[in-house]
Amino acid sequence: MSEVTVHPVSAEWADKALIGAEAYAEKYRRSLAEPDAFWAEEAKRLDWIKPFTRVKDTSFNVDDFRIRWFEDGTLNLAANCLDRHLADHGERVAILWEADDPATPGRRITYRELYAQTCRLANALKAQGVKRGDRVTIYLPMVPEAAVAMLACARIGAVHSIVFAGFSPEALGGRIDDCASDVVITADEGRRGGKTIPLKANVDAALEHHAPNVKSVIVLRHTGADVPMVAGRDIDWADAVAGQPGDCPPEEMNAEDPLFILYTSGSTGKPKGVLHTTGGYGVWVSMTHEYTFDYRPGQIYWCAADIGWVTGHSYVVYGPLANGATTLMFEGVPNFPDHSRFWQVVDKYGVEIFYAAPTALRALMREGDDWVTRTDRSTLRLLGSVGEPINPEAWEWYYNVVGGGRCPIVDTWWQTETGGHMITPLPGATALKPGSASTPMFGVQPALVDGEGQLIEGAAEGALVITDSWPGQMRTVYGDDERFFQTYFSTFPGYYFTGDGCRRDEDGYYWITGRIDDVINVSGHRMGTAEIESALVLHDLVAEAAVVGMPHDIKGQGIYAYVTTIAGTEDSDDLRRELIQWVRKEIGPIATPDVVQFAPALPKTRSGKIMRRILRKIAENDTGNLGDTSTLADPGVVDDLLANRPES
Ligand code: WTA
Repeated sequence: MSEVTVHPVSAEWADKALIGAEAYAEKYRRSLAEPDAFWAEEAKRLDWIKPFTRVKDTSFNVDDFRIRWFEDGTLNLAANCLDRHLADHGERVAILWEADDPATPGRRITYRELYAQTCRLANALKAQGVKRGDRVTIYLPMVPEAAVAMLACARIGAVHSIVFAGFSPEALGGRIDDCASDVVITADEGRRGGKTIPLKANVDAALEHHAPNVKSVIVLRHTGADVPMVAGRDIDWADAVAGQPGDCPPEEMNAEDPLFILYTSGSTGKPKGVLHTTGGYGVWVSMTHEYTFDYRPGQIYWCAADIGWVTGHSYVVYGPLANGATTLMFEGVPNFPDHSRFWQVVDKYGVEIFYAAPTALRALMREGDDWVTRTDRSTLRLLGSVGEPINPEAWEWYYNVVGGGRCPIVDTWWQTETGGHMITPLPGATALKPGSASTPMFGVQPALVDGEGQLIEGAAEGALVITDSWPGQMRTVYGDDERFFQTYFSTFPGYYFTGDGCRRDEDGYYWITGRIDDVINVSGHRMGTAEIESALVLHDLVAEAAVVGMPHDIKGQGIYAYVTTIAGTEDSDDLRRELIQWVRKEIGPIATPDVVQFAPALPKTRSGKIMRRILRKIAENDTGNLGDTSTLADPGVVDDLLANRPES
């Protein structure tokens, strides 16, 4: 193993941070030893309508499985993000918005304005017949109205399901169907990197074949493009909110009432609707946003994630707004109009805390330091990383070039399922090791297990599990409690299984090594290999497909697809290109295969199971080391795959 550089906590950070090393150790100890007292205290960060009397009631065991936090308390999370800030700092900027095109004026929305806009839309949703518990699908670009839509749902107790605006009509339709939304909120078009995305047209296409129960589509005029409106179904956002009062009483929600559904990919089957509830999630994202980023009111904070992913939910909207922060929303991409864009935005708004995915950093690093060093960035004080492992080289570049060697980096490991940060350095407490997410958040008990499901102690490598519940944990797969239990709690009974492999070093630091299930992480986006395979086999000429991850310098992982066409098909380059387009259309551009290899047959065991281990090795070009192939039904298949591996 190569030498690890350790960056100790600077004297300045140790001195001024909310949580120093001793405070971390003591709070962490207490969070495990006295969870009820610890969480009752932390829960005070939210305003409760009716205080809870029970804190934690959880078990991961099959016989008495349950996950309940603060279960008899009531609150409203939108009111926690808005109303309670009005008295003291209603004029503070809640959302700073920077458009895709730097020439388009930005927007500054105060807490008071955000409150009024949210209430108007909440009233409009009620007027459309949306009731507490109903599902609302949101398919919007990165505009402040996306936060308004989320908060409006939360205000009236409706459950939002955001679908990333890069997903195809097919993917959108499937998600609308799965949770039976009867309202969709979208925009005429989105803009990203100078391109337009036909959002309303995508909704129309999705609704042609799906979701017969969608009663209304609320359409935000964003680019002003002329889009067809279906009479009786579609309504302009402006018309919907016109005349609606700027106040709307918040619905009193139970702590365990659903807040949102967010679809994410798993090893098998269709994407799962991850369900988060109100109280525990609210406490978790508020607490982690404050401690991980050492957030103090008034600081300008920018999380560059899209609201279509969990990072956008927890760290663009709910966490920061619950804490009264000023959160920056950026519509664009890091390399438009040029590779300085991120740092120009930092300078324009005086950003102090910046949080992004390694894939963006690697892409920018490749373009050279000039794009960074010609900007000022002197306001930056803390940097964050999320979504995938960050390689030490990118870490050092982020630290030295972007942060000028002044800013600690918090490498936050977590998942859609965990609601918020689980393993992360705290800037005033944790010496940093580039590439390690380091140590657990309060209340989080990570552990490593071996192939037999036995806990392993000390410095070791294994599958990462979490041994007890934490407030921000997902509560179920929407509509499928059984799938929830099977997916996360049956592999290693009694533990939550993360799907990640992990190494723990002699200092107790955790190093995430990546997914060990059939999920791949492409540019920080989770893709299920099964989903891409299903899309491929929908094509008339495809008989069978197997998809695996391959190493990719920028994206972390790329998508490698093995395709067996039906007999008599000519496996041409044209067909290869067609299949790549096909997957883009079926799922969306993020699922674009990097390599398609035609395979006359796939390596299978005698019982017909595809041997993915071998396919992974070939995709990784690790062909000297294919391991045991003796159980293959036809070992000749492998020789053919090796002989015809396309150059990538
Ligand atoms: C990976 C994103 C290493 C991991 C918040 C996890 C990471 C999956 C890190 C969840 C990190 C996320 N270091 N790997 N700091 N953060 N991952 O649900 O494999 O989109 O299981 O949540 O991303 O992806 P998801």
